[in-house]
Amino acid sequence: MDKIKSDIKSMLTPKRYKHILGVEEVAIELASRYGANIEKVRKAALLHDCSKQFTITKMRELCDCDETLKNYGHLGELIHGFAGSVYAKMKFGITDQEILDAIRYHTIGRRDMSLVEKITYLADAIEPNRDYADVEHIRHLAFENIDMAILHEADRKIEYLIKREAVIHPNTVDMRNWLLAKVKRGEI
Ligand SMILES: [Fe+2]
Ligand SMILES: [Fe+2]
Repeated sequence: MDKIKSDIKSMLTPKRYKHILGVEEVAIELASRYGANIEKVRKAALLHDCSKQFTITKMRELCDCDETLKNYGHLGELIHGFAGSVYAKMKFGITDQEILDAIRYHTIGRRDMSLVEKITYLADAIEPNRDYADVEHIRHLAFENIDMAILHEADRKIEYLIKREAVIHPNTVDMRNWLLAKVKRGEI
Protein backbone atom coordinates (compact mmCIF):
# COMPACT_ATOMS: atom_id res chain seq x y z
CA MET A 1 0.00 0.00 0.00
CA ASP A 2 2.89 2.38 0.83
CA LYS A 3 4.40 1.76 -2.61
CA ILE A 4 1.08 2.59 -4.32
CA LYS A 5 0.87 5.74 -2.21
CA SER A 6 4.36 6.98 -3.04
CA ASP A 7 3.93 6.19 -6.75
CA ILE A 8 0.61 8.02 -6.86
CA LYS A 9 2.12 10.98 -5.00
CA SER A 10 4.86 11.28 -7.61
CA MET A 11 2.36 11.06 -10.49
CA LEU A 12 -0.20 13.65 -9.40
CA THR A 13 -0.24 17.34 -8.50
CA PRO A 14 -0.11 18.15 -4.75
CA LYS A 15 -3.73 19.31 -4.90
CA ARG A 16 -4.91 16.07 -6.53
CA TYR A 17 -2.84 14.00 -4.09
CA LYS A 18 -4.56 15.80 -1.20
CA HIS A 19 -7.89 14.84 -2.79
CA ILE A 20 -6.72 11.20 -3.03
CA LEU A 21 -5.83 11.13 0.68
CA GLY A 22 -9.24 12.64 1.47
CA VAL A 23 -10.97 9.92 -0.56
CA GLU A 24 -8.90 7.23 1.17
CA GLU A 25 -9.82 8.59 4.62
CA VAL A 26 -13.57 8.69 3.91
CA ALA A 27 -13.48 5.34 2.09
CA ILE A 28 -11.95 3.70 5.20
CA GLU A 29 -14.63 5.27 7.43
CA LEU A 30 -17.42 4.11 5.10
CA ALA A 31 -15.90 0.63 4.83
CA SER A 32 -15.84 0.37 8.64
CA ARG A 33 -19.43 1.58 8.84
CA TYR A 34 -20.77 -0.86 6.22
CA GLY A 35 -18.43 -3.83 6.70
CA ALA A 36 -16.56 -3.63 3.39
CA ASN A 37 -13.06 -4.95 2.76
CA ILE A 38 -10.77 -2.12 3.93
CA GLU A 39 -7.81 -3.14 1.77
CA LYS A 40 -9.92 -3.16 -1.38
CA VAL A 41 -11.49 0.24 -0.74
CA ARG A 42 -8.07 1.72 0.10
CA LYS A 43 -6.59 0.49 -3.18
CA ALA A 44 -9.59 1.74 -5.15
CA ALA A 45 -9.44 5.12 -3.39
CA LEU A 46 -5.69 5.56 -3.92
CA LEU A 47 -5.87 4.58 -7.60
CA HIS A 48 -9.25 6.02 -8.66
CA ASP A 49 -7.74 9.12 -10.32
CA CYS A 50 -4.44 7.54 -11.42
CA SER A 51 -4.98 8.53 -15.07
CA LYS A 52 -5.88 12.15 -14.28
CA GLN A 53 -2.50 13.58 -15.26
CA PHE A 54 -2.69 12.06 -18.75
CA THR A 55 -3.85 13.88 -21.84
CA ILE A 56 -7.22 12.93 -23.33
CA THR A 57 -5.29 11.28 -26.19
CA LYS A 58 -3.36 9.09 -23.75
CA MET A 59 -6.60 8.22 -21.91
CA ARG A 60 -8.17 7.18 -25.21
CA GLU A 61 -5.12 5.06 -26.02
CA LEU A 62 -5.45 3.31 -22.66
CA CYS A 63 -9.13 2.69 -23.31
CA ASP A 64 -8.32 1.27 -26.74
CA CYS A 65 -6.35 -1.52 -25.01
CA ASP A 66 -9.67 -2.76 -23.68
CA GLU A 67 -12.31 -4.06 -26.11
CA THR A 68 -15.19 -3.07 -23.84
CA LEU A 69 -14.09 0.57 -23.71
CA LYS A 70 -13.69 1.32 -27.40
CA ASN A 71 -17.00 3.14 -27.71
CA TYR A 72 -16.27 5.61 -24.94
CA GLY A 73 -13.50 7.60 -26.62
CA HIS A 74 -15.82 10.54 -27.41
CA LEU A 75 -16.62 11.22 -23.77
CA GLY A 76 -13.54 13.32 -22.97
CA GLU A 77 -12.82 13.75 -19.24
CA LEU A 78 -15.49 11.24 -18.33
CA ILE A 79 -13.24 8.43 -19.52
CA HIS A 80 -10.55 9.03 -16.86
CA GLY A 81 -12.10 6.32 -14.69
CA PHE A 82 -12.04 3.88 -17.59
CA ALA A 83 -8.46 4.79 -18.49
CA GLY A 84 -7.55 4.61 -14.78
CA SER A 85 -8.82 1.05 -14.44
CA VAL A 86 -6.72 -0.04 -17.42
CA TYR A 87 -3.67 1.77 -16.01
CA ALA A 88 -4.19 0.36 -12.49
CA LYS A 89 -4.04 -3.12 -14.00
CA MET A 90 -1.07 -2.40 -16.26
CA LYS A 91 1.14 -0.34 -13.97
CA PHE A 92 0.03 -1.41 -10.47
CA GLY A 93 -0.84 -5.04 -11.21
CA ILE A 94 -4.38 -4.79 -9.83
CA THR A 95 -6.36 -7.82 -10.95
CA ASP A 96 -9.27 -7.75 -8.51
CA GLN A 97 -12.29 -6.96 -10.68
CA GLU A 98 -14.14 -5.26 -7.85
CA ILE A 99 -11.31 -2.76 -7.39
CA LEU A 100 -10.99 -2.24 -11.15
CA ASP A 101 -14.74 -1.63 -11.46
CA ALA A 102 -14.69 0.80 -8.53
CA ILE A 103 -12.02 2.82 -10.38
CA ARG A 104 -13.79 2.50 -13.72
CA TYR A 105 -17.19 3.70 -12.51
CA HIS A 106 -16.18 6.21 -9.83
CA THR A 107 -17.38 9.21 -11.87
CA ILE A 108 -20.34 7.94 -13.82
CA GLY A 109 -21.60 5.18 -11.52
CA ARG A 110 -23.74 2.29 -12.76
CA ARG A 111 -26.68 0.23 -11.59
CA ASP A 112 -26.02 -2.78 -9.33
CA MET A 113 -22.79 -1.35 -7.95
CA SER A 114 -20.97 -3.49 -5.39
CA LEU A 115 -20.32 -2.07 -1.92
CA VAL A 116 -16.69 -1.31 -2.84
CA GLU A 117 -17.90 0.60 -5.93
CA LYS A 118 -20.51 2.52 -3.93
CA ILE A 119 -17.96 3.51 -1.29
CA THR A 120 -15.43 4.69 -3.88
CA TYR A 121 -18.08 6.64 -5.79
CA LEU A 122 -19.37 8.36 -2.66
CA ALA A 123 -16.00 8.96 -0.97
CA ASP A 124 -14.88 10.75 -4.14
CA ALA A 125 -17.91 13.04 -3.90
CA ILE A 126 -17.80 13.86 -0.17
CA GLU A 127 -14.11 13.80 0.86
CA PRO A 128 -13.16 16.73 3.14
CA ASN A 129 -11.76 18.91 0.32
CA ARG A 130 -15.09 18.88 -1.58
CA ASP A 131 -17.11 22.04 -1.23
CA TYR A 132 -20.52 22.41 -2.86
CA ALA A 133 -23.92 23.53 -1.63
CA ASP A 134 -25.33 20.19 -0.51
CA VAL A 135 -22.12 18.43 0.52
CA GLU A 136 -22.76 18.49 4.30
CA HIS A 137 -26.16 16.89 3.85
CA ILE A 138 -24.73 14.14 1.61
CA ARG A 139 -21.83 13.58 4.06
CA HIS A 140 -24.31 13.04 6.85
CA LEU A 141 -26.55 10.80 4.73
CA ALA A 142 -23.54 8.71 3.64
CA PHE A 143 -23.23 7.21 7.13
CA GLU A 144 -26.99 6.84 7.64
CA ASN A 145 -27.91 5.21 4.34
CA ILE A 146 -25.34 4.80 1.58
CA ASP A 147 -27.91 4.22 -1.19
CA MET A 148 -29.90 7.34 -0.31
CA ALA A 149 -26.66 9.32 -0.25
CA ILE A 150 -25.71 8.09 -3.73
CA LEU A 151 -29.22 8.82 -5.04
CA HIS A 152 -28.99 12.34 -3.67
CA GLU A 153 -25.51 12.83 -5.10
CA ALA A 154 -26.60 11.52 -8.51
CA ASP A 155 -29.53 13.99 -8.58
CA ARG A 156 -27.12 16.77 -7.71
CA LYS A 157 -24.62 15.68 -10.35
CA ILE A 158 -27.27 15.44 -13.08
CA GLU A 159 -28.64 18.91 -12.23
CA TYR A 160 -25.11 20.32 -12.24
CA LEU A 161 -24.27 18.76 -15.62
CA ILE A 162 -27.49 20.03 -17.20
CA LYS A 163 -26.77 23.57 -15.94
CA ARG A 164 -23.27 23.36 -17.44
CA GLU A 165 -24.61 21.93 -20.72
CA ALA A 166 -22.27 18.97 -20.17
CA VAL A 167 -22.60 15.36 -21.36
CA ILE A 168 -24.38 13.02 -18.94
CA HIS A 169 -23.29 9.42 -19.26
CA PRO A 170 -26.33 7.10 -19.45
CA ASN A 171 -24.89 5.07 -16.55
CA THR A 172 -25.49 7.98 -14.17
CA VAL A 173 -29.16 8.24 -15.13
CA ASP A 174 -29.52 4.46 -15.00
CA MET A 175 -27.93 4.32 -11.53
CA ARG A 176 -30.23 7.09 -10.32
CA ASN A 177 -33.33 5.34 -11.67
CA TRP A 178 -32.20 2.01 -10.19
CA LEU A 179 -31.87 3.60 -6.72
CA LEU A 180 -35.10 5.57 -7.10
CA ALA A 181 -37.01 2.37 -7.97
CA LYS A 182 -35.60 0.80 -4.79
CA VAL A 183 -36.86 3.76 -2.75
CA LYS A 184 -40.33 3.48 -4.32
CA ARG A 185 -40.42 -0.23 -3.49
CA GLY A 186 -39.42 0.59 0.09
CA GLU A 187 -36.16 -1.35 -0.21
CA ILE A 188 -33.91 1.50 0.89
FE1 LIG B 1 -12.09 11.13 -10.83
FE1 LIG C 1 -11.43 11.82 -7.58
